[in-house]
Amino acid sequence: MERIQKRIAASGIASRRKAEELILEGRVKVNGHVVDSLGTKVGPKDEVTVDDIVVSKLSSLYLVLNKPRGYICSVSDEFDRKIILDLVPDEFKKFKVFPVGRLDYDTKGVILLTNDGEFMNKMVGPKSGIQKEYLVRVRGIMNNDALNRLQNGVMINGKMTLPALVSIESIDRDNSSSLVRITITQGMNHQIKEMFKVVGYEVKRLTRIRFGNIKIDDLSEGEIRRLTIHEVKTLIELSKKSKILSNNSKLKTIHYL
Ligand code: URA
Repeated sequence: MERIQKRIAASGIASRRKAEELILEGRVKVNGHVVDSLGTKVGPKDEVTVDDIVVSKLSSLYLVLNKPRGYICSVSDEFDRKIILDLVPDEFKKFKVFPVGRLDYDTKGVILLTNDGEFMNKMVGPKSGIQKEYLVRVRGIMNNDALNRLQNGVMINGKMTLPALVSIESIDRDNSSSLVRITITQGMNHQIKEMFKVVGYEVKRLTRIRFGNIKIDDLSEGEIRRLTIHEVKTLIELSKKSKILSNNSKLKTIHYL
């Protein structure tokens, strides 16, 4: 027997907290009867429905979207801004996918969507070691001290960031800006913008070019595709790996500045 909100969350239809809200709103039934108690437990043979959709029969769906700027990573927005679910084609709508983590309104790039709550927790939970790689256009010319600090970890909102892989892609002296490539394994709020702010640089443009094994290359902006089973399995494997990036041969910091 398991709590009903756990069953709902495992089916991918909603997080546990949202499942509790659904229960309290009277939208959940067990064997045809509305339940309104958060303590209700169900067994394998019980039929659980949300809005009369049988949750145990929902199949899991895993998508990747190349998110354009100007979209909110949420299932709704109180200010009526565009949300990434607007970009989900009709054929996928019935699966009720939600974003795996978040990219800011003005960030573009790789974002996964799924209806599998357990998968989402593996990807973005505190134990997840998934690498996220970004291209960051910053105002000003990056110096080595800032680069080293980003690499080794900086304090943001009272927490040290884990080691990151950082390299300079290009410097535009005419427009006084730098393009930096950075790979991190955590997912703190606005982590990249905060990290650069701490070392004295303002982020002008941010693109996530990789999430684990999923790269942005084969998708144009706004385009979406299903992940293959192999890609999903690899993501799950990667989420179990160490979070500590080692700044050794992979590091491409340029020391001529
Ligand atoms: N870090 C940020 O600051 N913003 C994002 O959208 C993603 C990572």
